[in-house]
Amino acid sequence: MKLFLDTANLEDIKKYASWGLVDGVTTNPSLIAKEGVNFEKRVKEITKVIKGPVSAEVISNDAKEMIREGKKFAKWAKNIYVKCPMTPEGLIATQKLSKAGIRVNMTLIFSAAQALLAAKAGAAFVSPFIGRVDDMGQDGMELIEEIVQMYANYNFKTEVLVASIRSPRQVAEAAMIGADICTVPTAIYDKLVKHPLTDNGLDKFLADWKKSKKK
Ligand code: G3P
Repeated sequence: MKLFLDTANLEDIKKYASWGLVDGVTTNPSLIAKEGVNFEKRVKEITKVIKGPVSAEVISNDAKEMIREGKKFAKWAKNIYVKCPMTPEGLIATQKLSKAGIRVNMTLIFSAAQALLAAKAGAAFVSPFIGRVDDMGQDGMELIEEIVQMYANYNFKTEVLVASIRSPRQVAEAAMIGADICTVPTAIYDKLVKHPLTDNGLDKFLADWKKSKKK
């Protein structure tokens, strides 16, 4: 399973990329706004650090305008994936952009039916927001199971990108189900590495080693 970072913070992207395990980056208008930076400039900066897919989201509601935005973004770098929302207009734009060879990440997916439409429209990625599904009192991971099963039934090439991750356990569960990608906020990325028993074990090993050197 590929691991993406879900952030537009360049310093964080550089830091985690240096660990060697970041396969891509997802951004959205909220993440860009949080950084208070110019969208185009930041996306271009990210594509220079990360060689894998970098998602940039359209902000229009109209298909024609989404296509115009998408075509513009795609010129910024070879690894741009254009994020289009799951709306009728977004579906029209996804089909047109995909046919033009531009990879689309269909976002704001909350049901298996929406994921089916995204795949039929030719999206390269589909982004179900599992944390927000959980917040509604439903089961986000069940949604991932349904989409993975559905895509396997029909051999859809669309990759399942699990988004809105709230815990490291969700990353492991998504991998067990067979999702293609998880996009992980930096706070959760830190927690993927951490375990108190690892820290305790390491402290003990080093303390024992020091003791043995005194003999
Ligand atoms: O990639 C989508 C993700 O950023 C949404 O996450 O935590 O705002 O639900 P969240």
